[in-house]
Amino acid sequence: MKFFIDTANLDQIKEAEALGILDGVTTNPSLMAKEGIKGADNILKHYVTICNMVSGPVSAEVISTDYNGMVEEGKKLAALHPNIVVKVPMIKDGIKAIKWFTDNGIKTNCTLVFSAGQALLAAKAGASMVSPFIGRIDDGNWDGVQLIEQIVRIYDTYGYQTEVLAASIRSSLHIVKCAEAGADIATCPLSSILGLFSHPLTDIGLEKFLADYKKNNG
Ligand code: G3P
Repeated sequence: MKFFIDTANLDQIKEAEALGILDGVTTNPSLMAKEGIKGADNILKHYVTICNMVSGPVSAEVISTDYNGMVEEGKKLAALHPNIVVKVPMIKDGIKAIKWFTDNGIKTNCTLVFSAGQALLAAKAGASMVSPFIGRIDDGNWDGVQLIEQIVRIYDTYGYQTEVLAASIRSSLHIVKCAEAGADIATCPLSSILGLFSHPLTDIGLEKFLADYKKNNG
């Protein structure tokens, strides 16, 4: 399973990249706002900065909601860097725009997906990735991981090439559950990635190995 980081924070991207296990980055307008990146030009520059920090795909989201607007915006985003993936919302015009991007060789990430039916539409339009928001589904007392399993099953049955990108990850356990469910990618906050390292028995074991080495070697 590929690991993406879900942030527009450059320090966190740098820290995750330095681990050597990062495969890409996803952003959204809320994450850009959180970092105080405002103004169209600054936002575009920020995408280029991120693209130059990592070697994998970087999702950049359109803010238009009409077909023509999304196509124009997406063309501009895709021209910024070869690693840009145009993130398009799951709405009627979004699906039409994804089909246009697919036909014109531009990679897409269909975002704000909350059901298998929506994921099916994204795949039929040729989306490169589909983003089910599992944390937000859990927030509503449904089961986000179950949706991942369902989408993976449908895509496998029909051989769709769209990658299942589990988004809205809230914990390290979510990452493991998504891996079990067969997600192609999990996009995660840095804290959830770092949480995967932790196990008290690792700490206790290492302490003992080092103490025994010291005892034996002075
Ligand atoms: O990038 C989209 C998604 O990961 C958002 O997550 O935490 O705002 O539900 P969250």
